[in-house]
Amino acid sequence: DYVLTEAKFVHKDDLNYPFEERGLQFGDGIYEVIRVYEGRYYLIEEHVERLFRSAEAVKLKVPFSKDEMYEQLNELLEKNQIQQDAKIYMQITRGSAPRDHAFPLNVTSNLYAYVQDLPRKIDLMAEGVSAITTPDVRWDWCYIKSLNLLPNVIAKQKASEQGCFEAILHKDGEVTECSSSNAYFVRDGKLYTHPAKENILHGCVRTRIKQFCKDEGIPFVEETFRVEDIQHADELFLTSSTAEVMPIVKVDGNLIQEGQVGPITRKMQQKYEQDAQ
Ligand code: PDD
Repeated sequence: DYVLTEAKFVHKDDLNYPFEERGLQFGDGIYEVIRVYEGRYYLIEEHVERLFRSAEAVKLKVPFSKDEMYEQLNELLEKNQIQQDAKIYMQITRGSAPRDHAFPLNVTSNLYAYVQDLPRKIDLMAEGVSAITTPDVRWDWCYIKSLNLLPNVIAKQKASEQGCFEAILHKDGEVTECSSSNAYFVRDGKLYTHPAKENILHGCVRTRIKQFCKDEGIPFVEETFRVEDIQHADELFLTSSTAEVMPIVKVDGNLIQEGQVGPITRKMQQKYEQDAQ
């Protein structure tokens, strides 16, 4: 049983990745990225709940109950003696089976999770980042945190080639979210963001932003904004578990509000900081 690889023919048992693994062959799997501050999870329930929602949406069996999942994730931090800022990457694929698009019978899902140091992006959060805009060419079910990230990867690469931190995605001119974060637009004291429909990821940090707005009496308007509006924004920012509340000060080469970070963005950063403590 010889397999052709980029280097040479190797026996399938000597491959350094699984043979006929559905995550690799079809992107048939789901994932989560969970933030850890000083060795403690932030928004762990939100992430575990979303993982189970993603699994259910694609009929994938999570090998643990929710309670077991919490236990295992805590043990992962303990075993690695994590006391610093970090992130967990966790993925579950449908498993290994002879290649067939339809779900194989009797396949067992593969789960793996690891922890990695992730310092906070303090300087970027203070100054803000630049972004590009690019069409959202993804499928209709982006609320599922699936492993099919090629459109996201391509969008982020385009941003990166232009020296930018993120790519703001739009469908027919309406901003959906970013390649790996949610997008927000502030005008006249109101915060706008795409409604939590099936075509965006329902960010765990996004749910907190909604709460922070409620706490502060800032209208949280779940309505889309358009690419043409971006240049006239009072403020723009993005959120994710790895980027926290990140101001966007330049889009497609043009400064927004002369590159100044606005008061609502600062307030959201403060609230996040308190919440994550
Ligand atoms: N991405 N939208 C997309 C497309 C994302 O991939 C992410 C997170 C978010 C923000 O979700 P949350 O607030 O739950 O982190 C929004 C993770 C960080 C990643 O893929 O690395």
